[in-house]
Amino acid sequence: MRTQVGIIGAGPAGLLLSHLLHLRGISSVVLEKRGREYVERRVRAGVLEQGTVDTLVEAGVGARLLREGLPHRGIELRYGGQGHRIAFEKLVPGRSITVYGQQEVVKDLIAARLEAGGDVRFEIEDVAVHSLEAEPYLTFGGERLDCDVIAGCDGFHGVSRPSIPPGVLRLFERDYPFAWLGILARVAPSSEELIYARTERGFALHSMRSPTVSRFYLQVPPDATVAEWPDERIWDELKARLETVPGFVLDTGEIFDKGVTPMRAFVAEPMQYGRLYLAGDAAHIVPPTGAKGLNLAVADVRVLTEALDRFFATGSADLLDAYSESCLKRVWRAQHFSWWMTTLLHTFDSDDDYGRRLQLSYLDYVTSSESAATTLAENYVGLP
Ligand code: FAD
Ligand code: PHB
Repeated sequence: MRTQVGIIGAGPAGLLLSHLLHLRGISSVVLEKRGREYVERRVRAGVLEQGTVDTLVEAGVGARLLREGLPHRGIELRYGGQGHRIAFEKLVPGRSITVYGQQEVVKDLIAARLEAGGDVRFEIEDVAVHSLEAEPYLTFGGERLDCDVIAGCDGFHGVSRPSIPPGVLRLFERDYPFAWLGILARVAPSSEELIYARTERGFALHSMRSPTVSRFYLQVPPDATVAEWPDERIWDELKARLETVPGFVLDTGEIFDKGVTPMRAFVAEPMQYGRLYLAGDAAHIVPPTGAKGLNLAVADVRVLTEALDRFFATGSADLLDAYSESCLKRVWRAQHFSWWMTTLLHTFDSDDDYGRRLQLSYLDYVTSSESAATTLAENYVGLP
C-alpha cells in the first residue's frame, strides 16, 4: 500500500490534516488506535478561537458548528466576592470565541472524511514507524504503508514522538501540583458566559456545551479519583466556589460524564525529524486554563498543510524544513498564556500569605487596567 501522507491518530489534528490535504488533492491514510465510537464520545475541549472556526468553515466542515456553536463575547473572572467581565467586543473588537465541543468537531470531520471516500481506519493498535530518514513507512496488523511523509497526530501518549532517536529532541516539561475534575451535567448554564473562579478552596470553571448541557471543572489534588467525587460532593464544591457573588445561584442537574485530567505543560523541540512531522498534543501540551490545546493543534495543521502542498506541488521542502520553527512561536506564546492563567487562578499549597496577596493584587490589576485586560482578551481569543 502507498499513500502520500501517513497520518497516525484520528483526533482533531489528524482528521483535519487529512481533510485539508484531500481539498488540495493530496492522499492520506489515517490510522487510529481506538474505535470510532470512542473518539466521537471522548469529552475534552470546548473553546474554539476565531481562527479555528474560520479554518473549519473555510474547509466546508463548519455548517453544524455555525448552527449549534455558542458565540461568546466575553468571559468572567470571579474572585473576592465579585465578578469582573473581560469584554472581548470592547477590548479586541471583531474577535471572539465559540463554544462547541471537541467531540462534535471530531464527529463533523469523520463524517466529512468518510463522505469523501477518505481512508480512516479505527482500532489499529499496533502502528510502528520505520525509516524516517529515507523512505518512511508504517506497519500495522501485518500490513505495510509506504508514505512520502508521516504526520504524528497521535497525542501525548502516541508512538510517533518516541520513534524519534534519542538525543534529537529537547523536551521542556512542567507538572502542576493539581488536576482538574471535569463533568457534564444535564442542566441549563447558570451564566451566559464562562466563569473562571478563583477561591481559597481552589479554582472552578463554569462552561457549557448547549442551552441544556453545562460543563464544569474543579481544581482537585493531583491524585484525585472520580470515585472520591460522588455527585453530591461535586455540586457542594461547585456551589462553594461559584456562589460567591450576590444573587448568583448555581442550578444543578444529572451528571452524565466525569473525568480527572492531570495538569501538565510540555514542548518537544523540534517538532520534526527526517520525514516525520509532529502536530498537536504529540508535540506540545498546555494546562487547559487558557483553552489553547485544540486551537494549537489546528494552527499546526494549517502550517503543515501549506508546507505539504508546496512540497507535493513543486518538490520544494523549504516550508517543510521550516515547519517546527513556524509553529513554535505560537506554541510558546500559548505556553506562557496558559501558565499565566493557571498561576493567576489556582491555589498552590506552596503559597504563603504573601503569595496569595500577590495573586489577588495581580487579579485586581488585570480586571482594572484596560491594557492588562486587553492582553488577556487578545491571547484568549487567539493570535491571528
Ligand atoms: P488527541 O485529541 O489526543 O488525538 C490523538 C489521537 O491519536 C487519539 O484519537 C488517540 O486515540 C490516537 N492515538 C494515540 N496513540 C495512538 C497510536 N499508537 N496509534 C494510533 N492512534 C493513536 N483545548 C482547547 O483548545 N480548548 C479547551 O477548552 C480545552 N479543554 C480541555 C479540557 C480537557 C479536560 C482536556 C483533557 C483537554 C482540553 N484541551 C482544550 C486540549 C485538547 O483537548 C487537546 O489539545 C486536543 O485534543 C489535541 O488534539 P490532537 O488531535 O493533537 O490529539
Ligand atoms: C471547556 O468548556 O471544556 C473548557 C472551557 C474553557 C477552558 C477549558 C475547557 O479553559
